[in-house]
Amino acid sequence: MWGLVLDSTIREKELTRKIDPEKVPRHIAIIMDGNGRWAVERGLPRQEGHRQGVETVRDIVRCAEKLGISILTLFAFSTENWQRPAWEVNYLMSLPEKYFQSELPELIRKNVQVRLIGDAARLPRKVRKAVEDGSEATRDNTGMILNFALNYGSRSEILRAVNNLIKEAAAGKVKGQVDEKTFSSYLYTAGLPDPDLLIRTSGEKRISNFLLWQLAYSELWFTNVYWPDFSKLHLMEAVHDYQMRKRRFGKL
Ligand code: IPE
Ligand code: IPE
Ligand code: MG
Repeated sequence: MWGLVLDSTIREKELTRKIDPEKVPRHIAIIMDGNGRWAVERGLPRQEGHRQGVETVRDIVRCAEKLGISILTLFAFSTENWQRPAWEVNYLMSLPEKYFQSELPELIRKNVQVRLIGDAARLPRKVRKAVEDGSEATRDNTGMILNFALNYGSRSEILRAVNNLIKEAAAGKVKGQVDEKTFSSYLYTAGLPDPDLLIRTSGEKRISNFLLWQLAYSELWFTNVYWPDFSKLHLMEAVHDYQMRKRRFGKL
């Protein structure tokens, strides 16, 4: 036990030394996956994995803020996740409220600004209220932006943008051809730079309808670690790995 603690302390020191604080990714997006498998492999109900996953969210938000990340976008519930059994959906829908109840004071203190990306209208009232209250309470904060993707699906986000554009064009508010910059401003992530780094846990290597437009040139980092076991060391490893890469954007 103490050996492990010592190992991770040494590893943290090493990573702290290796990470260039001037070159941390501005925007990190995370597909937090593997809660269910984490629980089942321990003989626990899936809910236990989600409960533990919230603990990881706390740790990772703290660590990202400390590392100086400007924007952290967390995929918490997809438009496709409604297809899960009602007991699981209900449990997942109870988590935002719990999270904000315990974390909001610290988020406020740390100058974090909470935002929701996704179709809020279809969320249960108590979930919408929890996130909206969190956003409202942190609206004027100027530190890290913390985006929660809840009832988020990228294709529906893109279609929503297209439909809003059609409406505004018909009303004469949008004229001529739509360029990439204008299009981006119709997405939930309007005004934010695209993710520099996408992390997905649990060994799956797919995007699962997350930020299809915004991830065009993001660096991808996958780990087999399940989300409840994902720690600040893993986040630091991902950041360090990101810093070792050469982003070319099609150029030489
Ligand atoms: C991620 O964990 C949480 C959500 C998708 C809401 P999962 O619940 O997908 O866990 P696995 O993939 O079944 O292990
Ligand atoms: C993606 O995970 C959605 C979230 C993490 C919220 P899923 O577990 O739903 O993705 P698939 O179904 O394995 O692609
Ligand atoms: Mg999953």
